Amino acid sequence: MYSTYKTIIEPFKIKSIEPLGFTTREERQEALQRADYNLFKVPADKVLIDLLTDSGTGAMSAEQWAGIMRGDESYAGARSFFTFEKVIKDLTGYKEIIPTHQGRAAERILFNIIGGKDKIFLSNSHFDTTRANAEATGAIAIDLPAPGALDFDKSSNFKGDMDLNLLEKYLKENDPGQIAMVILTVTNNSLGGQPVSMKNIREVNKLCKKNNVVLFFDAARFAENAYFIKLKEEGYSNKTPKEIAKEMFSYADGCLMSAKKDAIVNIGGFLAMNNSDWASRAKEIEILGEGFPTYGGLAGRDLEAIARGLIEVLDEEYLNYRIKSVAYLGDGLRKHGIPIVEPPGGHAVYINAKKFLSHILPEKFPGQALACALYLESGIRACEIGSLMFGKNNNGKFVPAPMELVRLAIPRRVYTQSHIDYVIETFENLAKKKNTIQGLRVIEASPVLSHFTARLVPA
Ligand code: F0G
Repeated sequence: MYSTYKTIIEPFKIKSIEPLGFTTREERQEALQRADYNLFKVPADKVLIDLLTDSGTGAMSAEQWAGIMRGDESYAGARSFFTFEKVIKDLTGYKEIIPTHQGRAAERILFNIIGGKDKIFLSNSHFDTTRANAEATGAIAIDLPAPGALDFDKSSNFKGDMDLNLLEKYLKENDPGQIAMVILTVTNNSLGGQPVSMKNIREVNKLCKKNNVVLFFDAARFAENAYFIKLKEEGYSNKTPKEIAKEMFSYADGCLMSAKKDAIVNIGGFLAMNNSDWASRAKEIEILGEGFPTYGGLAGRDLEAIARGLIEVLDEEYLNYRIKSVAYLGDGLRKHGIPIVEPPGGHAVYINAKKFLSHILPEKFPGQALACALYLESGIRACEIGSLMFGKNNNGKFVPAPMELVRLAIPRRVYTQSHIDYVIETFENLAKKKNTIQGLRVIEASPVLSHFTARLVPA
């Protein structure tokens, strides 16, 4: 059992290190201009602490690196595939396991089978690539977050839940054949990294069964979700994270997973399901684009690292540190009056830029303005989740996103508490000069997933 001391310690020691990118303010100013105020275009060696994403940025364990050496690189039937398959079958209970090179490849394959014109995807919230892959088939992706999910100031336990009343309404009003599937994103990345309760999962399952609709998880952060259930939901405090995760998976027909999050690897993903017809079709599509179904665009060594990561991520000592250390960042920001999405999520703290920079209108991208100011102040890189990512252009009219957030995503097992203290101190300084932060204007943007490539200038 873990320590009951107040001090959270990283439950690992460090064997291999990488230098941080120290820069001067002038260098950062120049880097921002060269990157067109788009942080995806800033070279990583000019970043001090990189909180852009928790995806593919985790540190692997000695055991995972040992697995890399053990990897079997046979084209077909590699031993590493069977190790991978066994771990995922044991965890999820699903029959068909299909590796992919990352999460969005799993989305693309599956949605090509079940999507199409006029089909409807329903979710607590689709992640941006999930939405884009659904929409690319001609389908409509609809978010049904629980009431209160957008009330960022108000803390409650399971703000990642799906709105059951709206779900029931959509299921009733549409022919079951028209609903491609229901997807529960655990945890809900687009709205604060908030967990979904087991109660909600069970209810969503009941509604789907009753209406003959398929339920899948977007399981990128399933272990963090399971640990929140253990901490916050009645009846789960004595269960292990693995028991809870298994129960979660038992209520769905399959899952898509980006292994770059809770499998703590730098690349990888998978599709898992019970429907063998869909699996056969998925494998056909897989061969066209990803590779033979026992490696799916990955190397045998990657499959070993994922298998090991899926075991390590469910370690209670690790999850306790993970959830508490993210909350520690939230506590520090709150102390300096920074408005965050309450409560802090599992993988990230989200800052409410609309509230923090209330002098910047949504059309001037307050989230992106804050992310740029944060970088300029001390070289910390974060990600906007607001109108740059989700805003729309309706015949020339700007339609803002419902939220203007900046996500400080914490890579797994990478940064220590002093790094986090540095982030908190940067915000203490930013809060003093927030009125000097200016909005931005987009000068060029592509129609799909434009935030990755958009060019901006100070407004
Ligand atoms: N689903 C969720 C909930 C995600 O957060 C992501 C990726 C994906 C699917 C797609 O997976 O990147 O392996 O293709 N999220 C990253 C992020 C990019 O920064 O949150 P992928």
